[in-house]
Amino acid sequence: MYKLLVRPVLFLFAPESIHHFTFRFIKIAFTIPFVKTIVAAFYSARNPKLEREVFGIKFPNPIGLAAGFDKDAKLFDQLSAFGFGFIEIGTLTPKPQPGNDKPRLFRLPEDSGLVNRMGFNNEGVDAAVLRLKNNRNKVIIGGNIGKNKLTPNEEALNDYVYCFNALFDWVDYFVVNVSSPNTPGLRDLQEKEPLTKLLSELQKLNSAKAKSKPILLKIAPDLTNSQLDDIIEILRETKIAGVIATNTTISREKLKTTNEELKTIGAGGLSGLPVRERSTEVIKYLSVKSGKAFPIIGVGGIHSPEDAIEKLNAGASLVQLYTGFIYEGPGLAKKICKALI
Ligand SMILES: Cc1cc2nc3c(=O)[nH]c(=O)nc-3n(C[C@H](O)[C@H](O)[C@H](O)COP(=O)(O)O)c2cc1C
Repeated sequence: MYKLLVRPVLFLFAPESIHHFTFRFIKIAFTIPFVKTIVAAFYSARNPKLEREVFGIKFPNPIGLAAGFDKDAKLFDQLSAFGFGFIEIGTLTPKPQPGNDKPRLFRLPEDSGLVNRMGFNNEGVDAAVLRLKNNRNKVIIGGNIGKNKLTPNEEALNDYVYCFNALFDWVDYFVVNVSSPNTPGLRDLQEKEPLTKLLSELQKLNSAKAKSKPILLKIAPDLTNSQLDDIIEILRETKIAGVIATNTTISREKLKTTNEELKTIGAGGLSGLPVRERSTEVIKYLSVKSGKAFPIIGVGGIHSPEDAIEKLNAGASLVQLYTGFIYEGPGLAKKICKALI
């Protein structure tokens, strides 16, 4: 019904406007008594077979909502009713920032993809913390952190430390995002030396806490095999908990969308079905080459149960989705869960 009736109407409007409209609609609808219970009954699958314990956290199911959808932690409780076992908020930065000029989000319907150059638009980590204090239902939350656009890379560590400390009591795991293509220079932090320094410092802070939290690194699908070898080495050295593979790609290969359309859209990260294969390759490479040394959350182009199973078979312990939720609708997480059962 979603693909036949709802999606054609939603796709008549600009993607970012529809995102905000849907957000407001869900927020208001969920204030009506029993709406959350009804939505959860319709869209969630509960079964002990779905439960997973990964990096010390017990997940009710292995399907998460990827970062970027609920950047400011405004809707995690309501979104969990759509069958997600965990929600990743962010990317959050220390100071609020508006992100890039609009339009900055584009659909590629022929390819079931999206291109975005949002540029970490968010209201700042402190505003998100105020909302997370209301996590009464104890939804499992990942805190995805980044740096402000105006912070030079040499001072990036301070931004990550600020977000880490602010969020520490309110999230279950952390994600260090150095892989967004939309913050100039950010991906340079994926190089061996700056990345080792950044992760070691965060891990040092983490170890000093009474009970440390898992820190994961989110990587781009555009890394070469030799860069992936570096990532394995860095994980061994810094002993962080795992990897999220992958973020969006800057590649525009093998698309049905014409070059002219792509030129009009311009720069940004491509997500959805076009990134599926590469993201699975990265997961497989890391898993095999490291000898399954650390857990991997697989993300990129999951639009069906088969796509999720492909990621799990490649070595992912958990998966996440974003673009598939837009193209396939609110029933996708449950559909995957049912197939897993
Ligand atoms: C509009 C949009 C915004 C995103 N924002 C973020 C972000 O702020 N931080 C992040 O780590 N990933 C972000 N992502 C990347 C997703 O979390 C995910 O890694 C990527 O889209 C691949 O998964 P998918 O094919 O299921 O969408 C964003 C993706 C989209 C489409």
